[in-house]
Amino acid sequence: MNILLIGSGGREHAFAWKIKQSAKCDKLFVAPGNAGTALIAMNVPIAVDDFQQLGAFCIEQKIDLVLVGPEVPLVKGIRDYFETDERLKSILMVGPGKAGAQLEGSKDFSKQFMVRHQVPTARAKTFFSNQTNEAQQYLEGFPPPFVLKADGLAAGKGVVISTSLAEAKAAIREMLEEKKFGEASSKVLVEEFLEGIELSVFVLTDGEDYVILPEAKDYKRIGDGDTGPNTGGMGSVSPVPFADGVFMKKVEEKIIKPTINGLQKEGINYKGFIFIGLMNVKGEPYVIEYNARMGDPETQSVMARIKSDWVELLVACAKGKLKNHIIEVDPSYVTTVVMAAGGYPDRYEKGKIISGLDQSLSALVFQAGTKMKEGKIITDGGRVLAVTGKGKDINEAVTNSYEAVKKISWEDAYYRKDIGNDLG
Ligand code: AMP
Ligand code: GLY
Repeated sequence: MNILLIGSGGREHAFAWKIKQSAKCDKLFVAPGNAGTALIAMNVPIAVDDFQQLGAFCIEQKIDLVLVGPEVPLVKGIRDYFETDERLKSILMVGPGKAGAQLEGSKDFSKQFMVRHQVPTARAKTFFSNQTNEAQQYLEGFPPPFVLKADGLAAGKGVVISTSLAEAKAAIREMLEEKKFGEASSKVLVEEFLEGIELSVFVLTDGEDYVILPEAKDYKRIGDGDTGPNTGGMGSVSPVPFADGVFMKKVEEKIIKPTINGLQKEGINYKGFIFIGLMNVKGEPYVIEYNARMGDPETQSVMARIKSDWVELLVACAKGKLKNHIIEVDPSYVTTVVMAAGGYPDRYEKGKIISGLDQSLSALVFQAGTKMKEGKIITDGGRVLAVTGKGKDINEAVTNSYEAVKKISWEDAYYRKDIGNDLG
C-alpha cells in the first residue's frame, strides 16, 4: 500500500524506518520530512496543517494509509477534513479527530474528562482571563511547588512549575492577562504538584480495543541530573524497570480502560495513539497529561523494540480491527540520546554541517532538525539527531548510544551525558 506519514521530527524518521521494514509498504511519502526521511522515503514539501494540499496529494498518489505524527494537524482536525470529503473519506488514517485530540489540545477538557471517568490525576481548577485574583487566591490553598498549565497547545512550553508563591502569582497574571502563551493561556489550570517518577505509556486504540505499546521514560530537562529548562525531550529509555507487571496492571485497570470507555461513552470515535504521561506516586499511577500522538524521543526507543509488522498494526487500528491483536516486543533495552544545537531550548543557530553520519555506528541515528544542502546534511532545528542504541541491559544500550554520539559532531552540538544513569 502507499503510505503518507505527516511530520518532520525524529519520531517521524523512526516511524518511517519501521514502516519501510513492512512488506505491505509500497511507496512511503513524508510531508514535509527531514534529511533522514529523505534517505528512505520520498519527502513532499507540504506543511503538516495544509489539509487541502495533503488531500490533493493523497488523491494524486493513490495513498491508502495516512499516519499523523504531530499534534497540530490532529487538533486542527485533519481527520474531520478527510472524513467529510467524498474523495478522501475511504483513506485509512491513524490519528483521532478534532474531538478526541482535545485530550491533548485542551488541558481543561482533559482534566474534566479524567474527573468524569474517575481516572486518577492531580487535583486542579481552571481559571479564565478575568479571574486572576481568584486564581491567585486558589494557589494559596496549595503547598509549594505550584503547577500552572496553559489550557491550549503551547509547543510543550505551557507548564510553569515554581517553588515561590510570589513567582507563581506573577506567572498566573502573565498567563491570563498578558497572554504569555497567546490564546493557549486564555484559560489556566492551577494544579496540585505530584511527587514521583514519570513514565510515558502508549496505547494504540481503534476506539473499542487497544494494544499497549512498550513504555518509555523521557528526559525532559536540558541539563544533566534533570536540571535547567524543559525541552521536547533529550533522551528516552525503554523498557522502564519500575513499570513491572503489577504497576502496568494498575495502569491498565485504573487508567487505560476508563479512558477508552470514557471516549466511547462520550461518543468520541478515537482511532490513534493515546500517549499517557504518568507519575508513579508511591506505586500508584496518576495521569499528568494525555497526548493524541506518540512521544518524541520516546518513539525512537519504542520503534526499536517492536518486532511485529508496524503497518499491519496501523491498518488494524484504522480499520477498527485491533481486537485480539498481539504485538511482539524485543525484550532488549533501548536508549535514545538526543543531540541538540547548542543553546536549545532557547536561541540556537542552524546550518551547521554534521559530520560522522557516514561511519559504521553502534546505534541507529534518527534525524530530526536536519536538511540537505549542497550534498551535505546540515542542522535545521533545536533537536537535531536521536541516537538509539540497543543492549541486553540498560548499561549496554547506553554504551552503544554514547559510542555512536561521540563519533558524530558539528559546531556547538550538545547532548545530555546521563541518559539512563538513574535506571542502570
Ligand atoms: P506537561 O506539558 O503537562 O507534560 O507538563 C510538563 C512537565 O511538567 C511534565 O512532564 C512534568 O514533569 C511536570 N508536571 C506537570 N504536571 C505536574 C504535576 N501535577 N506535578 C508534578 N509535575 C508536573
Ligand atoms: N517527549 C515528550 C513529548 O513528545 O511530548
